[in-house]
Order: sequence, then C-alpha cells, then structure tokens
Amino acid sequence: VEPLSRRNMLKAGGALGALGALSIAAPAQAKSTWTWSPSGSVAGAGAGVDPRLVWDDEADPLVASLLDRGEAPLVNQLLRTWTRNGQPLPDGLPGDVRQFIERARQLPSWVDQGKLTTAVQFNEKRGLYLGVLYGLASGMMSTVIPQEARAVYYSEGGADMKDRIAKTAKLGYDIGTANAYQPNGSMIVTAVKTRLAHAGVRHLLPQSPRWVGAAPEDIPISQRDMMITWHSLPTTVMRELNSWRVPIPTRESDAFLHLWQVAAHMLGIKDEYIPASWSEANSQATQVLDPILAPTPEGIALADILLGLGKEIDGGILSKPILGSFTRFLLGDQIANWLKIPRDLLWDTLLQTSWGPFIAVREALLPLPLAPECFWLFDEFLRKLALLFLSEGQQINIEIPLGNRPS
Ligand code: HEM
Repeated sequence: VEPLSRRNMLKAGGALGALGALSIAAPAQAKSTWTWSPSGSVAGAGAGVDPRLVWDDEADPLVASLLDRGEAPLVNQLLRTWTRNGQPLPDGLPGDVRQFIERARQLPSWVDQGKLTTAVQFNEKRGLYLGVLYGLASGMMSTVIPQEARAVYYSEGGADMKDRIAKTAKLGYDIGTANAYQPNGSMIVTAVKTRLAHAGVRHLLPQSPRWVGAAPEDIPISQRDMMITWHSLPTTVMRELNSWRVPIPTRESDAFLHLWQVAAHMLGIKDEYIPASWSEANSQATQVLDPILAPTPEGIALADILLGLGKEIDGGILSKPILGSFTRFLLGDQIANWLKIPRDLLWDTLLQTSWGPFIAVREALLPLPLAPECFWLFDEFLRKLALLFLSEGQQINIEIPLGNRPS
C-alpha cells in the first residue's frame, strides 16, 4: 500500500475536484459510472479505479518537465532518427527521457508471439477491409467521440488535419506489418512516441482557453478516454466485419485482439483496463463507447475535412458524396445525420442493396455469376480507399506537440 503522502492527498483532492466539475458540466458522462471489472482484463485483477481519473503517471510528469525546461524540441529532433524497435536510442537524449523510453519500449510479459504470427496472416488476408474500416469506420467514429474531437481540434495538429491523418495512419500501417513488434519493425517506436505526444497534449490543452471553454474535463486523454478510442478501432472493426458476415476463424479474431491488446499496453494503458477477450471487450465498449457518442461543433468540422480528403487524391471515385454514403452505411443514419452528411440517393441505395452480396461473392460464399453488377466498382473503391488510409507512413515523425492550435 502506498503511504499517504502529501502528494497523493493532493492528487486525490484534484481527482475529486475533477469529478465534481464533471458531474456538473457533463451530466450525461457522469451518469455512466465505471462498473467494468478488472477480473476481465489482461491483468486479471486491479483496484478497479474509474479510469477517468487515471492518466499516465510516468510519461506525463516527464513531458511536462521537458516542455517547461524547453527541451522538447531537442528530444523531438533526436528521436527522428529512432525508427526501428530494436534500434538503440540516439546519443544526447536527456537522462530522464532515455530512462523512460528504455522502460516503455519493453513488451508486456503476457505477449504471445504465436498470436502475433497469426495476426500477421489475418492482416494480410484482410488488409483491404482493415484499411477501409480503420479509415472510415474508426476515423469517422472518432469525430463523434466528444472528448477526442475537442482534443484533436484544439491541439496543435488540429489545424493541419492532413498531416494528423498521415501520422495516425502510420500507426494503422505499422500495426499491420508483418514485423510490427519485432526488432526490425516500427510499432513499438510509434506507440512510445504517441505516448509522449499524448503526455504533451495533457500538459498543453489545459492552457488552451478554447479547449478549457469547450471540454468538461480538466485534463484530456484519461485512461478511460484511451479505451474509448481503442474500442473505436479493433472493437468497431470486428463489429463491422461480423456484420458483413466475413468468415473469421476464432484463432484469427483472437490474434487480432491480441495485436491491439499489446498496442494498448505500449500506448500506456494499464493492463487492468485492457479487455482479456472479445466478450469482455464488447461488454466494456457497450459501457464506455456506445453511450457517449454525440455530435460536437469540433467533430462536425473534423468530419467535413475527413470526407473532403479523397477529392485531392482521386477526384473521381473518392469524391465526398461516396465517402459520406459509406460513412452512413457503416455508422448508421443517426451518426451520419449528426455529422450533417447529406443523403445520396444513388450511393445510399447501392450500398444498402449490393454490399452484402458483394462481400459474399468476394468471400466465395456466393458463386461469381451472382455477383452484383457493381462488383468491380466496389472492388476498385475498396482498393482506392485502403490506399488512401494506409499509405506507407515513411518519413512521418510523431512528435511531442509544442503548442496548441494557433487559431
Ligand atoms: C496524437 C493514436 C487516443 C488525442 C496521436 C498520434 C497517434 C495517436 C498515432 C500521433 C499523431 C499526431 O501527432 O497527430 C491514438 C490511439 C489512441 C489514442 C491509437 C487510443 C487507442 C487518444 C485520445 C485522445 C487523443 C483518447 C483524446 C481524448 C490526441 C491528440 C494528439 C494525438 C490531441 C496530438 C495531436 C497534435 O497536436 O499533434 N494519437 N490516440 N488520442 N492524440 Fe491520440
């Protein structure tokens, strides 16, 4: 048991204060108390503290100190050359940064290399669907997760969404590669750098008057927020694949879950909050993700930018109405309406009537002669989309932000 120090008391007081502020400012959020049991987590046990009151007690003080003592730009610059999991850290890093990263880059004791190998097969087999789903299902869902939409909008990266999306896509790319967590892969580096970036956001956003004015919480990116966003990724992707009736052997879906459990750990999420199984993941998502989805002005603005992205890359097939229709198809009318996505008679109807048969033919559940007429159109669409969202993330540097959104 930790001794009751002055620091702990202050921390507890701050946490209680934050809880009080939350229950006044955000009754909808405060209503959902944390009842998910740590016995369903990869740790198997834990204190069961509401993760809304837990952040990252290793990375946060470190990055706050780097920003305060003006060393964050140096650290960013030095870390640009650190790109492979097995690569030694560059010389010249401040001692506390080196110490933190050497610890943070260690994989958890429960990592299962066999599952990671199976996950590679799954990623290869399902890469096309995964690219589309990370980009459109998870990406668009992030705009109706209020805490995330506000944090993204008012942070430094919010003013340059194209750059931000490229950086986020790097994580989607790195986690899908065959060597993601191997010494010559990059996912550990990407996760640790993201952990540092998040710690920077926790220090900086509370200094943004616009974020403070819009957000009910005192400190962004709590452990609960991170699990919510996590569910917008693997849990949402698996829900979509299931609803498309894509046949996935249990071995493969378990491996895909494991890939993301390890990612959660490497991003600094505590093991007691990481679900141990799909049924635990779904039960946690029902508790923390589904009820909090809501529109915000910031999320609507971000969604509009996201839907406009395709146009620059491919003026034809990826134009805004098609991406909008696909969002409506994936996330449903309520979310599409929140995001003010207009209905598109042609594409809405086409997706409603033909996507199911299209997938069935692709999965050889239906013979080819029964292919819907739009088969090739859809197939081309899938490829273009996957390309758009999973562009190879080279020379993309995830860094500690140095300020907030400038305007
Ligand atoms: C930065 C992924 C959770 C807000 C990033 C970056 C990645 C990432 C890859 C670096 C890219 C960049 O700097 O733009 C993830 C993953 C999460 C997660 C995989 C959960 C599993 C969250 C949550 C929030 C959040 C819950 C807010 C509530 C941000 C912000 C930035 C960032 C504001 C920095 C943007 C900037 O100013 O550059 N995240 N994130 N993230 N993330 Fe997250």
